[in-house]
Amino acid sequence: MSIKIHTLAGYIHEYEKSVLQPEQFWSRIAETFHWRQLWQEVVRWNFDEPSVEWFVGGKLNITENILERHLYTLGDRPAIIWEPNDPAETALTITYRELYHRVNEFANAMKAQGIGKGDRVIIYMPMTPEAAIAMLACARIGAIHSVVFAGFSATALADRINDCQARLVLTADENYRGAKVIPVKAVVDEALTKCTSVEKVIVLQRTGGPVNMQDNRDIWWHDAIAGQPDTCEAEEMDAEDMLFILYTSGSTGKPKGVVHTCGGYMVYTQFSFENVFQYRQGDVYWCTADVGWITGHSYIVYGPLLAGATTLMFEGVPTWPDAGRFWDIVDKHRVNQFYTAPTAIRALQAFGRQPLEGKDLSSLKVLGTVGEPINEEAWHWYHDHVGKGRCPIVDTWWQTETGGIMISPIAGITPTKPAYATLPLPGIQPVILDNDGHELKGNSVEGNLCIKFPWPSMLRTTYGDHERCRQTYFSQFPGYYFTGDGVKRDEDGYYRILGRVDDVINVSGHRMGTAEVENAINEHPRVVESAVVGYPHEIKGQGIYAYVIADTTGRTEENLEEEIRATVANIIGPIAKPDKIQIVPGLPKTRSGKIMRRILRKIAEGITDDFGDISTLLDPEVVEKIIAGKK
Ligand code: PRX
Repeated sequence: MSIKIHTLAGYIHEYEKSVLQPEQFWSRIAETFHWRQLWQEVVRWNFDEPSVEWFVGGKLNITENILERHLYTLGDRPAIIWEPNDPAETALTITYRELYHRVNEFANAMKAQGIGKGDRVIIYMPMTPEAAIAMLACARIGAIHSVVFAGFSATALADRINDCQARLVLTADENYRGAKVIPVKAVVDEALTKCTSVEKVIVLQRTGGPVNMQDNRDIWWHDAIAGQPDTCEAEEMDAEDMLFILYTSGSTGKPKGVVHTCGGYMVYTQFSFENVFQYRQGDVYWCTADVGWITGHSYIVYGPLLAGATTLMFEGVPTWPDAGRFWDIVDKHRVNQFYTAPTAIRALQAFGRQPLEGKDLSSLKVLGTVGEPINEEAWHWYHDHVGKGRCPIVDTWWQTETGGIMISPIAGITPTKPAYATLPLPGIQPVILDNDGHELKGNSVEGNLCIKFPWPSMLRTTYGDHERCRQTYFSQFPGYYFTGDGVKRDEDGYYRILGRVDDVINVSGHRMGTAEVENAINEHPRVVESAVVGYPHEIKGQGIYAYVIADTTGRTEENLEEEIRATVANIIGPIAKPDKIQIVPGLPKTRSGKIMRRILRKIAEGITDDFGDISTLLDPEVVEKIIAGKK
């Protein structure tokens, strides 16, 4: 166990220590892990280059801290409980001992295919235990995993494979998702027509559906592990060696590969997991995210397993076979900590309270949310009807880049406030800057959320393009890490996240760059130009509104809109399909050609006046025309 905070006074005490003496604070936590060699320096950093190193000179393997560390004390305890998509299929429990053997066996299988330290491995898999086993097996041998959410299209997958020059892809024949069966291997096959770096594909047989297996390239998972020993010496890693790459969207068109390293990520994910959720040995913890996102990495796999916790993995969706599926699972597995996204809460709230009836939720102790701001109404519904007023809600603010939870209540210890992420965890130093970069001190202030001191699990670079990392996060406010979020610190000193201040939209907790969606729309041959903005959406938080200039000759607009949606699904994936498409005669641009998104955002929200001075636009009349054409 690292440091566990039990009281409000304990939180205040640890927080102060973490700011006054960060080196001592973090080394005391890091010392509770197994290192092959201890570090010489706790942190070395400057935010100008940027260059950040934690536990400098330390040697370790993160999987020794998950597998060997727990083998003798927790060997027979469940590490993973797996609930399949179909409630009629039997759930599985994998103990720490079984996990140890299965990870090692698969590590040997990858080695047998010539994969080793530093090689990049793409994981494009369903939410089965094998996805977690695959991640850990990579970490075991020092290969760098990059998990790609299995809802991404072949084009998006190919872009990621090519960016990191992966040698191996791990996938399945098909994925079950609710009532649907998704042919993921076929998506991989299509992607690989555009990639030259991939030598092997290992395919898990999940559904038994038909797939094409290419000679000398594709191997069944069960054949790959057949005859492999179930022990495998862990590769010794430097604290700053890469652990994984995870692609995420930003304000430019191309997703970037956020890089996390071994030592700091290990220390921070366990520390934050244990404290935020107040996990106790024997509890069953469930995070509903997908392993394709950072939440799945840090709080389904690494954080809980480092802590020796029991982590539940669910393959399916919240609304199949019915909208009571989540509550059935809580009841069936006696879940104690439940962590989900506001969008899921709002979607379930729309079904009313009937799906909750007859479900025993008395095991729940802590509820959590992540990924987007939670509105007060959804917060209260979650608190009253799921938590029955008994369970603190941890509204956890963080990002792919931060690696772990940054601002959040500590369950049952620090106060909660509906729609507020509240207070920073120990070790985290948030500041609010105005647009000129001045720190706004004191309470009742609002501005740009930045972090002024490094923390162990922060990103180190963007894969293959360090300058992009500097530009995106460290250039707008020199000397600070800029999150891209707006924030308010209220009269009590609690933080409330206000949403993105850049060209990123958050749809159902999924991060999307407006430029990325525009690029996809522009691929349609009839599209001349497009501009995408977010607008408030009751369930998804934000919806995607696309203004499109297109050649409609001989087509109906509806027909063209459907084709544009299909194009986006093809290039990015169904999650990026615009909710609303408006064919427009022009876009509001300044004389220098910059699109005035501010105006488009207002129109999407239904505002028809109060646009400020539009006389500087190249064609001010276009605004009226767009309003008139809005459906
Ligand atoms: O805008 C913030 C929002 O999600 C963004 C990060 O997205 P991503 O890297 O995909 O990671 C999501 C899971 C950690 C942030 O910049 N966000 C995340 N959590 C919250 C949030 N907004 C408000 N409240 C939160 N609790």
